[in-house]
Amino acid sequence: MKRIGMLTSGGDCQALNATMRGVVKGLYGLFKEVEIYGFLEGYKGLIYGNYQKLSADDFSGILTKGGTILGSSRTPFKELDIPTPDGLDKVKSMKETYKKLKLDCLVVLGGNGSQKTANRLSEEGLNVVGLPKTIDNDVWGTDMTFGFQSAVDIATSAIDCIHTTACSHGRVFIVEVMGHKVGWITLHAGIASGADVILIPEIPYDIKKVCDALQNRTKAGKGFSILAVAEGAISKEVAKLPKKERKQAIADAAAKYPSVAYEVADKIKQYSGMDIRVTVPGHTQRGGSPCPYDRVISSRFGAKAAELIKKEDFGKLVVMKNNKVTAIPLSESAGKLKYVSADDDIVKNAKLLGISFGD
Ligand code: F6P
Repeated sequence: MKRIGMLTSGGDCQALNATMRGVVKGLYGLFKEVEIYGFLEGYKGLIYGNYQKLSADDFSGILTKGGTILGSSRTPFKELDIPTPDGLDKVKSMKETYKKLKLDCLVVLGGNGSQKTANRLSEEGLNVVGLPKTIDNDVWGTDMTFGFQSAVDIATSAIDCIHTTACSHGRVFIVEVMGHKVGWITLHAGIASGADVILIPEIPYDIKKVCDALQNRTKAGKGFSILAVAEGAISKEVAKLPKKERKQAIADAAAKYPSVAYEVADKIKQYSGMDIRVTVPGHTQRGGSPCPYDRVISSRFGAKAAELIKKEDFGKLVVMKNNKVTAIPLSESAGKLKYVSADDDIVKNAKLLGISFGD
């Protein structure tokens, strides 16, 4: 009998259920008898021993279902050693739940922070396998996370819809795309939807350059423009401030504007007089059914996790490398983010096509 715990942690995404289904189908393919314990609302469920015993049937029919049947919540890694409001030692409680249920392995579907915690639990002696979840595609060590392509599809559709109305009315539009720290979704959705300007956190912008790009389009007879702006886009002036001042400047802007896109719109208006409209698809980017690409990789990731459990190859994060599903030590990925680099081919390609990054 194999006793497997599973949880989904952090911001949700489209293929969490598809991935869990993959894990469970793989386990039933490899073991005669399996017991699955699904912890509710992420690590919280493991801390408080809040779980459901699940059967294969519970994972049937969920390949296309968005969200997570287990629920999710954020348990920030930096607060792991701070007791819960009711005084529980989080790590100790998680270990106790694991031991009480006599688990053979804990499967963690989560992004960077959640995998850091998974690595900590692995260091504390638990058998852990991680699966790289996030729409942001910023988990270090994998070319692809599940959820990313589905979010890119939604952001692209949003920009496509804005494109037609912008064209009819000869307007300039900003579509704000998710990604506070990294710009992968904005970069991909921006290219996929033919955006004219892409602003991402990793490539700080100069508002004069952004306005130049927009004015050049007007001079070239283009009546409208589309900017894909990441929610963490940052100006060159703010990016070069020392950490404390930078944080303050970001906080001041957050107090003044509903979000970064409105700040950029205001700056463009002040600098060039252009009238800008803003659209924020927000959490729609994390919702709905996973796209076929995500259904495929999450099923493959799930199967790989089951294989690792069969081989008792624990302390690993399932990853995609050069189109192969493989695994790396959790410790190798923990604490690192996969950023866009201005030197990446994809950025160079986009620039060659005339997309401005405002840099
Ligand atoms: O990490 C996924 C993500 O959707 C980011 O792109 C976004 O910045 C953040 O989560 C939003 O978090 P919340 O759902 O807590 O508002």
